[in-house]
Amino acid sequence: MRIAFVNPQGNFDPADSHLTAHPDFGGQLVYVKQVALALAEMGHEADILTRQIADEEWPQFAAAEDAYLGCPGVRILRFPCGPPHFLPKEELWSHLSEWVGHIERWYRTEGVWPSLWTGHYADGGLCAALLEELSGVPFTFAAHSLGAAKLDRLLHPDDPSHTLEALDARYNFGARIAAERAAVARSACVITSTSHERHKEYQHPAYLDVINAGEDSRFALIPPGVDLTLFAPEGKGLCEESVLEAVASALARDILPERRGLPAVISWSRLDPTKNHLGLVRAFAESAELRECANLLIITRGVPDPLRKPWTAPAPEQEVLLSLASTIEDTGLWGTVTAFSLEGQDAAAALYRWGVQRGAVFCLPSHHEPFGLSLLEAMAVGLPVVATENGGPREITDDGRAGLLASPDDPAESGAHLARLLNDQETWRHYSSLGRSRVLEQYSWTRAAHSYAELAMETAAGWRAGDRSYPLPEFVRQTPPVKLPRLAGWVRATTR
Ligand code: F6P
Repeated sequence: MRIAFVNPQGNFDPADSHLTAHPDFGGQLVYVKQVALALAEMGHEADILTRQIADEEWPQFAAAEDAYLGCPGVRILRFPCGPPHFLPKEELWSHLSEWVGHIERWYRTEGVWPSLWTGHYADGGLCAALLEELSGVPFTFAAHSLGAAKLDRLLHPDDPSHTLEALDARYNFGARIAAERAAVARSACVITSTSHERHKEYQHPAYLDVINAGEDSRFALIPPGVDLTLFAPEGKGLCEESVLEAVASALARDILPERRGLPAVISWSRLDPTKNHLGLVRAFAESAELRECANLLIITRGVPDPLRKPWTAPAPEQEVLLSLASTIEDTGLWGTVTAFSLEGQDAAAALYRWGVQRGAVFCLPSHHEPFGLSLLEAMAVGLPVVATENGGPREITDDGRAGLLASPDDPAESGAHLARLLNDQETWRHYSSLGRSRVLEQYSWTRAAHSYAELAMETAAGWRAGDRSYPLPEFVRQTPPVKLPRLAGWVRATTR
């Protein structure tokens, strides 16, 4: 069978350009790529449908068709969607109907529809609903991150840049939530990565009238997996040496000589305020015990000396770096913290192996993580983890049994957990081994791909079906200039 992944945001290419380094190339894209590859391994075919981009700064995404090396079963198909240059996901809404039109024509020319559309994120879900209408082929929907949950986290009515109106204007929440509601109502299956997503996030009043999180049998839990050939305790040695060199020169540049042999707390996430790097620096500032036993390693991408030269980073990252640098200055942490650039999943795996040798700990202190794929990767290599208690990490760590959870607003709690792991070898070994076992038992891309193949059979047989009479939002039928919906009264009344 052929499964089509409907994923307009970000992009895909054989070199994994920008993967996990840009907000629109996050865990969702790793998920789509890996499930598609695993389906092909099983003998199925997969199409990844995304945007065609003709932009000098994004040269990897210009071709109409592409493929991963050695994986003929997966096609990357790119279709025009609005202007030729790169657009962030918040600005795609007006162009989705054009994009869907190109996809429809492609498959009509091929003469055969895929067996299943699978829509990813609100934009992909809405396009999948349109494609179902055009083809009669059912679709599944995976939100990955729900708009109403993000809106609630960002909303601060007293701050003029975080009122409902300001956030709606900036992120187009009205269009996003309307798209999610239509995708949920019409999809044959709503896929979640965690049961927290189903039982907590889908309980939000913004979705209550389109799905019953407690009882609706259309839900399917399909957690992501980990590439265990890459994230393994033993390395293939492809970039081990260059990573060791990068770590050694960062330690020599930033860490006091007498501290260079200490273990590390490793942080690897985008420089985005939601990732809460500041909370981690504060944990070091507040805990003398933590400072005594470890250095802090913050991995950034593409910025070689981010703390001393924050202006070399792109504008949105500069803000995060400036706040880190001033906290480090104010709390006397220079000599204890290093930040340097590493890129790619090979490098992450090699760094985590270095960490395991040194008794290090991985920390993901985000204010909220929809899933938290990077935790799985660190755990798979054998690093014990301390993670935010908000979102997916609770489930990944089996409610704190396979890794420690802390409030992102309580640096003292993170600091205490980190110090405990770093100072007690038995505790370190306990969480290292439980974390790896948890990943091996629960999180595999092959298992996820099997679930998708099953869903394709069940929907084709008509065992699962959505409500095709639910109206699609008007804007998706219009040609630009499109009037996007603004947040409706029910959202205004029900969000905090
Ligand atoms: O990559 C994971 C993911 O949840 C994507 O689905 C999405 O692009 C991003 O992270 C979060 O998006 P948002 O901040 O718009 O909720």
